[in-house]
Amino acid sequence: MQFQFTEEHLMIQQAARDFAQTELKPGVIERDEHQKFPAAQIKKLGELGFMGMMVDPKYNGAGMDVISYVLVMEELSKIDASASVVVSVNNSLVCFGLETYANEEQKEKYLKPLAAGEKIGAFCLSEPEAGSDATSQHTTAEDMGDYYLLNGTKNWITNGNSASIYLVIAQTHPEKGHKGINALIIEKGMEGFTVGLKENKLGIRGSDTHSLMFSDVKVPKANRIGKDGFGFKFAMKTLEGGRIGIAAQALGIASGAFELATQYAKERKTFGKPISEHQSIAFKLADMATEIEAARLMVLKAAWLKDQGLPYAQASSMAKLFASEVAMKTTVEAVQIHGGYGFVKEFHVERLMRDAKITQIYEGTSEIQKVVISREILK
Ligand code: CAA
Repeated sequence: MQFQFTEEHLMIQQAARDFAQTELKPGVIERDEHQKFPAAQIKKLGELGFMGMMVDPKYNGAGMDVISYVLVMEELSKIDASASVVVSVNNSLVCFGLETYANEEQKEKYLKPLAAGEKIGAFCLSEPEAGSDATSQHTTAEDMGDYYLLNGTKNWITNGNSASIYLVIAQTHPEKGHKGINALIIEKGMEGFTVGLKENKLGIRGSDTHSLMFSDVKVPKANRIGKDGFGFKFAMKTLEGGRIGIAAQALGIASGAFELATQYAKERKTFGKPISEHQSIAFKLADMATEIEAARLMVLKAAWLKDQGLPYAQASSMAKLFASEVAMKTTVEAVQIHGGYGFVKEFHVERLMRDAKITQIYEGTSEIQKVVISREILK
């Protein structure tokens, strides 16, 4: 066992750190306040190969490993979790789902522009009445012979408007339950497909979260991923990897808040000395650092398992569960260490605290991670 990154990992980590400082940090407060999508920044991330990091170069990907991906996710998320969620969804849900399960024709047509960062993808599973209970899909994809007729509504869709390629989960054979579900590739502009209102969110406000409406959308059969009825398994397998990305995002939010709190504690003086020299603050920093390190090891372990081709469902859910709780706890403490300054936008930690919350909710709530983990343990 080696607790060491390769030279290449360190270079990628540094590149992401530099990008976050020079390209994401300026304007991050304004984008959060005005709910402005980081379009220019995402374009540049695509040019750097960060939108299709793990995809084979023959499909325009960067051909990197999952360890590199989590290092990038951590660095970007330290500064701007609204940008990093776009990277996460595109890489670990959409590109991974297509590269692993789509056919060659679909990969040529859809994966290539997504991996190159020319187009953005969205993963559409959640519905008004199907969030945690993902098998209860009300969106229907009726088999019409040559095509599917898609009807229904999807909710909380990350990249809802900025995307142009959507992986949509829908029920084709209700009598078969989850075995009747399909995953379909939908393009923006298909007749009957409309993007609904943008959500006004607590955190990750720079990312665009929308509902999507499908009304008699004719989807060619060629756009179905895998065999008839594979859609639910497709969603579950894809989310297993997605949870590693969100765990890395949570880790980044926590470490970003920790770095700010440490720096502030060394500079801010009360009672004649830096507050870091007061034991009450020093002990907080020690707890934060310890928990972040534990979260980092869990994220890296899940990434390593995926790189090795070993099962990683339990590790990814454990990493997401733990890292998201560390993100919440650390960011609350970072605000506390900053005192009144922590409550105002210029000091960044209040935004990180708001952003942290979503990591306990999306790609499966903390409770869902416990369902997955306990089933893995008990099976
Ligand atoms: N891999 C392969 N198959 C799996 C699987 C996995 N990880 N998990 C479940 N399955 C299969 C089961 O084996 C079963 O198939 P069989 O009957 O053939 O054995 C089938 O799927 C149904 O499984 P369950 O009976 O376990 O289903 P369930 O209803 O009890 O729910 C669940 C399982 C884990 C709770 C699941 O519903 C779940 O993960 N829910 C949360 C969904 C979620 O994460 N949503 C997030 C939306 S995406 C998002 O947030 C993206 C974004 O924008 C950032």
